[in-house]
Amino acid sequence: MKKTWLLSLGCLLLTAACTSGGEKSTDVRRVVCIDNDWSFTLTDYEAMPYASTGIKDSEALASAETADGQWRKLNVPHDWAIEGEFSAKNPSGTGGGALPGGIGWYRKHFTLADLGLGDKADAQLLIRFDGVYMNSTVWLNGHKLGNRPYGYISFEYDMTPYLNKKGDNVLAVRVDNSDQPNSRWYSGCGIFRSVYITAVNPVHIVPWDTYVLPHAPQAGAYRYGEADSLVIAVAGTDAPSAAALLARVAIYNKEGKTVFTTEASFDGTTTGVRFRIPNAERWSVENPALYTARIDLYRDNQLIDDYAFRFGIRDFEFNPEQGFRLNGKPLKLNGVCLHHDLGCLGSAVNRRAIQRQLEVMRGMGVNAVRCSHNPPSVELLELCDEMGFLVMDEAFDMWYRRKTQRDYARFFTEWHERDLGDLVRRDRNHPSIVMWSIGNEVLEQWDDARADNLSLEEANMILNAGHDYSEPLDTGFTFNQLLTRHLCDIVRRLDPSRPITAGCNAADPRNNLFCEGGVDIIGFNYHERNFPRVPEWFPGRPFIISESVSALQTRGYYRMPSDSIFVQPSRWDRPYFDPSFKCSAYDNSHAPWSSTHEVNLRYYNDLPYIAGQFIWSGFDYIGEPTPYGWPARSSYFGVVDLAGFPKDVYYLYKSEWTDETVLHVFPHWNWTEGQEVDIWAYFNHADEAELFVNGQSQGVRTKGRDFHTQWRVVYEPGEIRVITRKNGREVKSQTVRTAGEPAAIRLTPDRKHLAADGRDLSFVTVEIVDKDGNLCPLADNPVNFSVNGPAFVAGVDNGLQTSLESFKAPQRHAFNGKCLVVLQSNGTAGRVTLTATSDGLSDAKSTISFK
Ligand code: GAL
Repeated sequence: MKKTWLLSLGCLLLTAACTSGGEKSTDVRRVVCIDNDWSFTLTDYEAMPYASTGIKDSEALASAETADGQWRKLNVPHDWAIEGEFSAKNPSGTGGGALPGGIGWYRKHFTLADLGLGDKADAQLLIRFDGVYMNSTVWLNGHKLGNRPYGYISFEYDMTPYLNKKGDNVLAVRVDNSDQPNSRWYSGCGIFRSVYITAVNPVHIVPWDTYVLPHAPQAGAYRYGEADSLVIAVAGTDAPSAAALLARVAIYNKEGKTVFTTEASFDGTTTGVRFRIPNAERWSVENPALYTARIDLYRDNQLIDDYAFRFGIRDFEFNPEQGFRLNGKPLKLNGVCLHHDLGCLGSAVNRRAIQRQLEVMRGMGVNAVRCSHNPPSVELLELCDEMGFLVMDEAFDMWYRRKTQRDYARFFTEWHERDLGDLVRRDRNHPSIVMWSIGNEVLEQWDDARADNLSLEEANMILNAGHDYSEPLDTGFTFNQLLTRHLCDIVRRLDPSRPITAGCNAADPRNNLFCEGGVDIIGFNYHERNFPRVPEWFPGRPFIISESVSALQTRGYYRMPSDSIFVQPSRWDRPYFDPSFKCSAYDNSHAPWSSTHEVNLRYYNDLPYIAGQFIWSGFDYIGEPTPYGWPARSSYFGVVDLAGFPKDVYYLYKSEWTDETVLHVFPHWNWTEGQEVDIWAYFNHADEAELFVNGQSQGVRTKGRDFHTQWRVVYEPGEIRVITRKNGREVKSQTVRTAGEPAAIRLTPDRKHLAADGRDLSFVTVEIVDKDGNLCPLADNPVNFSVNGPAFVAGVDNGLQTSLESFKAPQRHAFNGKCLVVLQSNGTAGRVTLTATSDGLSDAKSTISFK
């Protein structure tokens, strides 16, 4: 028996059929990623050119006979909106990124043999979509498998009854993102996450109901134990016949060594197993050690299923006085909020693009991510597990009260229980997740002027989805408190091992979500002046800043005097206009509900009971271009711009949150002669900094309670130099020179050796430099890209919030000296030469190999 296990473990580790790690393929559980070779059209049946040939409705379009030969061929994950043109008329509005929506159809033909499943004619065939934005309907061979409105949730259908086991099968997916606006940010459109087919024995393990659990609740209300039991669920059998099943469980450490084995029988359709791993390696931010649990399912001594998943062993605590602890050690969650878009790649999931985002965040000392404000991709969670990021996994941005006209609120009553439950079921094995969030700034926080006027009948419809609140309005709780408790119950039933929070901008005790039986962790969005009152308002309850800062910045743009604070707009409900359409990259510009980074950081550092914070936002994202309207179409909130280039404030965090020695001097040194210019420096590991302008000292500064030093000097061309010192000894120095005229292009790929897997990406930084190689900080030259070899331009960007250039065209203007081109493998191995040209500048070439 042991030998079989070893053999099949080999198979498990070697067979990487899927792009997202998730489930692996084995002989008895075959998982096939079907991302390649779909046909696509961005029209609904009314507009079909062959309407005259009998295509009158969706059902006809879904049928096996429909001719799709002329449709565009593509691979998913795919986002059609990112390929579109920006327009003020697009119904998504600038809030949604001003890109198009619409209705799109995808079709895919396959035979079981094509998928390598020729021997699986007797199997049960399941299809899983990791995410389709939005309102998707799926058919197989003209039979409807189902409809799923929520665009961020993963879902699965059973294809078996309609499958053609011998011949051609046709999957048809209608994606309806025509009802807009339905989002406060850019959502993307289409099958934007991966698709998998799984062939299993009709009696099989149910992955989402198979999970590790910590042992019994620990002493202390907000302590969560290490994993020590495993729940295994099977489907396709009833309880009596399940008695013939046996699960053999093995747990492997990260080196693949078996550390535990056991067996369990079933007397229902689930079974539980206790395990103990002596000296278990703890999962942590520094050492994200993962274990693999593998379950082999036998019936009458015959192996009928095997399923493996990763988990981690760690314990954590949200302490009302001392904040967060991981494995007994204090740790603040130095976090960021991230939306799911990947800049110029749109919302189409790409593992490397997410990994790069996390690497950039790690570079400034971030150890936590809030998936704002919707179910994240599986890839993000896997990467957080592997790289050691802590996660707040968030379900919704709205409940039944809408925030935009056509948003998820219209589906909430019918779907919330299913969507929230499926999120928890899908994600509960990820050790990175340390809390669930049931919502962001939901309007149900208030029961005052925004009273809901729900009838008892409507109220019951919302609460009674599987619940027994027969007289919800007579319980002593407000309706919205009952709803909060109902949502918390859904989560707690499925996962008692993590606390629940919510991002609340009603940051005081009247908030419905903070009621008894409501969220475990008090979560404030903003309202930093209320942070000191938390212990008095919420005695004995832990606290986290679920969202902070919302400063506004455009990379490389500076508004002086730098010590004046620009609040834009002056009040949240007032319009704002400035012809620059830019926000200052000194930390002196923010929205009226928020603060500068420095002000927030002061509160954060001073109050020990704050478990952590999630800065709004780590990266700029498409949509929500506060404080501007058209043509602004992406956010100003990021610490890093949309192209992935850090803004100056990145180095504030790097100096505070990492051990690296930091000195960052800004702005650039290309001004008008005689102009007064403010020079800032972020630094650490030193007690003073001295600035020299063309060799002349401008004085020594210390930081005091500020997080930066500042000098006001008169501009003269040449150079500025800052030296930091500790105890009189130089720690670091940085020189910024006046750049001359643009003369050349410089290309710097983030990676030069990539996988030829059709997915891998090289992010190439493009800089406009003078004849001496200095970055020209104001250059906006247009750059053209050509690619020779097995790769293509997957996207271009420059981080400018008002650029209306296409994210997909092989050209881009530089903005403040820089732009980005992203190359993607086309699946073939070989060397790729990227050439960048621009009139009047010397060309640049870079070679990248795909293996
Ligand atoms: C918050 C909200 C975020 C984002 C941010 C911008 O109130 O939760 O989604 O809109 O404001 O400042």
